[in-house]
Amino acid sequence: MLEAADKAWLSRLLGPGARFDEPMSRHTSFKIGGPADAFLQPQSEAELKAIIKWTRKKKIPYILIGGGTNVLVRDGGIRGLVIHTGHMATAITWGQDQQRIRVSAGAGVATRRLCAQALKRGWQGMNFALGIPGTLGGAILMNAGTAHGCMADVIETVKIMTSTGKQILLQRRTLAYRYRLLQMPSGTGDDSYPAVITACELTLTNGDREQIRGQARQWMRGRSRRQPAWQPSAGCFFKNPSPDQPAGRLIDEAGLKGMRVGGAQVSARHANFIVNRGGASAADVLNLSTRVREAVHSRFGIELAPEVYVVGEE
Ligand code: EPU
Repeated sequence: MLEAADKAWLSRLLGPGARFDEPMSRHTSFKIGGPADAFLQPQSEAELKAIIKWTRKKKIPYILIGGGTNVLVRDGGIRGLVIHTGHMATAITWGQDQQRIRVSAGAGVATRRLCAQALKRGWQGMNFALGIPGTLGGAILMNAGTAHGCMADVIETVKIMTSTGKQILLQRRTLAYRYRLLQMPSGTGDDSYPAVITACELTLTNGDREQIRGQARQWMRGRSRRQPAWQPSAGCFFKNPSPDQPAGRLIDEAGLKGMRVGGAQVSARHANFIVNRGGASAADVLNLSTRVREAVHSRFGIELAPEVYVVGEE
């Protein structure tokens, strides 16, 4: 799909930030995925805009990744571009208005870094996201969350770049948040040319630093007891069908912990994690996930839907 002149253009624009035939296994927490025709790391909104305008003209599709922590790339890799926003806009700034803290951050900021900043300064409202990997851009798009809250609770504005390179500021009241999804306004992009989240503003509150830190320690302990953080995975593989029917419990009760296909395994610690035991292919993960869905469906009559984005070619 990419010709020599296309590669030359991208290299001129991004220097070492443009790589070709790049294995996506290097850029996903699953450590799985075939090669992307081009893997691009813009450092600024100007570079992003130049790429977006160029791909439209060339009719070359792109997908976006932030931290690569909630994605499964199929073994055939990705035809077209992967735009990695994790190196763009990584500043965090803030202002205070009485008890309210208004935080501005770029989409490339690691969610973990913002949580650490909140803990250090005694800001209340981010503890729900402790331990969520990846970047704010990804967390906002998938409305990342836990039992204690989700991004929609704290987001005030989201800045996006549309698929035509226009910048738009979306206000909280206009955001269409769903369970694990921020629906982009119509006309801002589509599956082949999605809108890009570039920055956000969050509202947190001033709290009692010791109390927030105590809560953080307790939640993190619970999380590391329950989740296989030491093994490559994309976190929870399926969405919870409902709050009182968590996917992990359904898979566990169906007796599937430890089930294996090739290098992929249903974690023995948390049944909603599919882990890469070493050398797993995307096909292994997908075959295993199909078996899990079938077993849960036949046992409980419940259809599980993946939370992880599955992209690329077979
Ligand atoms: N459970 C089992 N067996 C298991 C796993 C869980 O019986 O193997 C039971 C637990 O005992 C608990 C219930 O299922 O009663 C829920 O489990 P847990 O508290 O671990 O929460 P979860 O709903 O499975 C959610 C998020 C996680 C987040 C945790 C932390 C989803 C799909 N998952 O998990 O997010 O870390 O809460 O609160 O919303 C992710 O999104 O990738 C992710 C890992």
